[in-house]
Amino acid sequence: MEKEKKKAFVTEDILKRDIAYRGMEKIPTEVYDDSKAASVAIANEIAKLIRQKEKEKKNCILGLATGSTPIKVYKELARMHKEEGLSFKNVISFNLDEYYPIDSKALQSYHVYMNTYLFDHIDIPKENINLPDGMAPQNKIEEFCKSYEEKIISLGGIDIQLLGIGRDGHIGFNEPGSSKKSKTRLIHLDKITKIDAGGDFFGIENVPKYALTMGVESILNAKRIFIMAYGESKSRIVKKAIEGPITQEIPSTFLQDHSNTSFYLDRAAADLLVRFQCP
Ligand code: GLP
Repeated sequence: MEKEKKKAFVTEDILKRDIAYRGMEKIPTEVYDDSKAASVAIANEIAKLIRQKEKEKKNCILGLATGSTPIKVYKELARMHKEEGLSFKNVISFNLDEYYPIDSKALQSYHVYMNTYLFDHIDIPKENINLPDGMAPQNKIEEFCKSYEEKIISLGGIDIQLLGIGRDGHIGFNEPGSSKKSKTRLIHLDKITKIDAGGDFFGIENVPKYALTMGVESILNAKRIFIMAYGESKSRIVKKAIEGPITQEIPSTFLQDHSNTSFYLDRAAADLLVRFQCP
């Protein structure tokens, strides 16, 4: 009896994978029981590459994301530094985005976020940290964005890019309508993004109107991309990003054209995928 039960489960599992591999899922997708397990798996991949690059005496170029989603990855990386001696001395980081205008010391700034959740807990050299400048004077924005792009290219490109996803399908702050060819630039934030950020700013009216973001093309140039989504509130957009058609309306769908992207989900975020819809 027990044996039969086990056999039936295996068959069901294979069938679910069959649906995934038949092409419903256009981005390779890993589903974990919870966000901690998914985050630890990503942190392991990052640590592996940092160590490999260290052996080769090379820098490891990381593209970093903010929001609530990547916090557990950063926590695990900080733990690996403290308890396992993982060094970040050869890491050069580029953050995806920053609100504009915003003081880098403001609680809601991504500068403060990165220090709080990662940089204050690891040994990355300060000069290796790059974030879009939320205080750049208006007449210097274009120049700043251009040099941000050029610096990434001059270092050989991003080795691993971490991404979250907005409820409107944005990556970084590439809001709906962002072109596949977009580069680092100033962008107007959408209403849904401002609503989601409203809590952090004690009211939607205090959320900055703009942001500086790496473009879709800048993101797609990364050699490896891990995009994460956790929780039921992301399940609708996750389904569109993974199973839907590629559209400028949902910039995360452009990742379907990237040859080395993986989606890491918890079970709740994955719930609407066809593979979980089989009765
Ligand atoms: C912001 C960030 C994005 C992030 C998104 C989702 O808009 N600019 O990079 O992916 O929020 O945030 P959360 O992870 O909190 O859901």
